[in-house]
Amino acid sequence: MSRSPKLIIAVALATFTGSVALAGGPQEKIAAKTETKTEANAPQRFNIGRAPTVEEIRGWDIDVRPDGQGLPTGKGTVAQGEKLFMDNCASCHGEFGEGAGRWPVLAGGKGSLTSDNPVKTVGSYWPYASTLFDYVRHAMPFGSPQSLKVDEYYALVAYVLYLNDVVTDQNFELTDKNLATIKMPNEGGFIMDDRATSEKAFWQKEPCMKNCIAPVKITGRATAVDVTPEDKDGKPRGVE
Ligand code: HEC
Repeated sequence: MSRSPKLIIAVALATFTGSVALAGGPQEKIAAKTETKTEANAPQRFNIGRAPTVEEIRGWDIDVRPDGQGLPTGKGTVAQGEKLFMDNCASCHGEFGEGAGRWPVLAGGKGSLTSDNPVKTVGSYWPYASTLFDYVRHAMPFGSPQSLKVDEYYALVAYVLYLNDVVTDQNFELTDKNLATIKMPNEGGFIMDDRATSEKAFWQKEPCMKNCIAPVKITGRATAVDVTPEDKDGKPRGVE
């Protein structure tokens, strides 16, 4: 059975109108029809690119969650990490994570977050060990990210945790099994976004669109710091 030429033309036209928005009478109708027609087989729609391979997706899909989901199988000790850190990281971050020159500081700053001069580091700020693993594997060493082996990343993360006193034993071995059990000092400084429940009472189905603010009552004036605009007679504006 051969396909009728009419049908082929219709399909070709539909593909064209589907990808380029043509305004105007009869074409609009065709375009509208196209939407339903092409949605069914969306991946074919523009006939560009190709489906990514499993390998490509695996290379891209490397995020790690706080519960450890996504961690690759691997392990590395603080002592192994120390050597790797000296070779790959210390030139920028300093041997003890103190930061060389103006490169980022990775350790210290504990308890400084509420001070006038907060020092945000892995130890003082970051909520989960998974954040550290995920970040370092995605982005470091700066300039050649993802260039190290998985076990080397475990070792480096173990060493950065050690620099922050999160682990204290040089022989500690970080693995995909124990990473999620590590408690970071500032985990409690982060809260889940609960606005969907905590602020629900304020939501209205019918949003107010006019005259929404009740009459404003002036309860005080900033005369103390002399920022209240004054009338010509020196009285704060708006006061009878
Ligand atoms: C060439 C300099 C350089 C080298 C080498 C380097 N880093 Fe970094 N690192 C940076 C810079 C720059 C940033 C900040 C990047 C940004 O904010 O986009 C950073 C950020 C970080 C952070 C996050 C700091 C924070 O609190 O935001 C960590 C953790 C880190 N690096 C770990 C490492 C580790 C581990 C290595 C070795 C494998 C390494 N870095 C090697 C320059 C470097």
